[in-house]
Amino acid sequence: MVAVDQGTTGTTVCVLDRDARVVGRAQTEVAVSYPRPGWVEQDPEQLWRGVVDTAAAALAEAGRGPGDIAALGITNQRETTVLWERRTGRPVHPAVVWQDRRTAGACEKLAAAGHGPAVAERTGLVLDPYFSGTKIAWILDADPELRRRAGRGELAFGTVDSWLIWRLTGGRTHVTDITNASRTMLLDLETAAWSAPMTELLGVPPELLPEVRPSSEVYAETDPAAFLGVAVPVAAAVGDQQAALFAQACLEPGQAKNTYGTGSFVLLNTGPTSPPRTDGTLLRTAAFQLAGEPAHYALEGAVLATGSAVQWLRDGLGVISSAAETAELAASLSGNDGVYFVPALAGLGAPHWDARARGTLVGLTRGTGRAHLARAVLESIAYRTRDVTEAMAAAGTPVTELRADGGAAANAWLMQFQADILGVPVDVPDNLETTALGSGYLAGLATGFFADRSALATLRRTAVRYEPRLAEAHRDRLYADWLRALDRSRDWARD
Ligand code: G3P
Repeated sequence: MVAVDQGTTGTTVCVLDRDARVVGRAQTEVAVSYPRPGWVEQDPEQLWRGVVDTAAAALAEAGRGPGDIAALGITNQRETTVLWERRTGRPVHPAVVWQDRRTAGACEKLAAAGHGPAVAERTGLVLDPYFSGTKIAWILDADPELRRRAGRGELAFGTVDSWLIWRLTGGRTHVTDITNASRTMLLDLETAAWSAPMTELLGVPPELLPEVRPSSEVYAETDPAAFLGVAVPVAAAVGDQQAALFAQACLEPGQAKNTYGTGSFVLLNTGPTSPPRTDGTLLRTAAFQLAGEPAHYALEGAVLATGSAVQWLRDGLGVISSAAETAELAASLSGNDGVYFVPALAGLGAPHWDARARGTLVGLTRGTGRAHLARAVLESIAYRTRDVTEAMAAAGTPVTELRADGGAAANAWLMQFQADILGVPVDVPDNLETTALGSGYLAGLATGFFADRSALATLRRTAVRYEPRLAEAHRDRLYADWLRALDRSRDWARD
């Protein structure tokens, strides 16, 4: 079983055996470009080639060949928008990445015209540039010829899952799964069908859209000319955060996970009916759907920049040489000395939704050093998580235990601080590669490679459990100061 995870900063492929053990793994980086402030782009061709090359490398590591692949599952960075020509499969624009803020003005106009509540009701989402719909419209509005061609059915849109499946199948299959579709702002969450009022409101020609399918189902076979010379079933597509929810065995309503990647995404399973509307600060989203079964849903708190702030410390500022160094630096101080960092590098996501907020550092004195900076960035990741769990509690679904995964779940200082700031245990599994595992599990269930969902759930094993240790008064004081810092980051960027 080959599980592909095409993420924002890299592509990981895991090869799973029949016992769902990872027997081979490979990872490659993908380039991200920032052509203007607030813009974030990638090359769709590079995303595609990276998947093929990384799959070949993972198979080699496992000592297997392409002929041994039972099926392929895909999980992916969500919302990132790709438009291509149906005839040639050639992209017509760089991929506009989920973190891209270029449609902030368009979202504000829609909000000012009073569309927010209807959008939330239909799609579960908030009017924010994060989602694909306004990105598609932006690409078409920037080039009238593209808009004409889209209307004639010559172009196709896809999130990354859809783009990869198109290429894997040699252009024969244009599908997406319900979890990815629920991130476009074009899906009616109740009916799981494209919403005509939404395509009309956002100005997206329906001719562009893929077919919406369950997350676990054989969609088609790969085209040997495109993929390593073999025809194997493509049997799962699922957004990376939903894949992590599945692999973290958060299969019962009330169970929640946080994946610490480029951003951090807390998803709380709400079961097989679409969650009721909240006050509009959290997202309602599809969690997964097995073939022939109803969809499961989740409440989501999407924090748009956390790991990317650590990456910025390393690559942008050069104040650390590795992400792991932050733990040591943070621990070298007995407190934060009043230094706070707000990681609004892509605006603020849930529950604040301010596309014009920007990264902010406050509380500096002449004594502030790089340890303060590292600590402030790590602390901010934990405070942003509390921002969303506060909103979940206010919505009547408190988080009583948080299952953590993703790269930063290996940062013991951060995980302990996270438990301290939330006041609930943080539970880290032995395998942090939950996104890839989730897509492998879902593809295995669709093809009979794995027989039983409940057996997969038992594969999750706790590696470390962090219990909260901080006195409540101390925790609340730190969080109150965080909220003051947060206020200073708001509504900063101008057009
Ligand atoms: O919604 C964006 C999310 O899917 C990106 O995840 O893992 O690439 O940070 P990641």
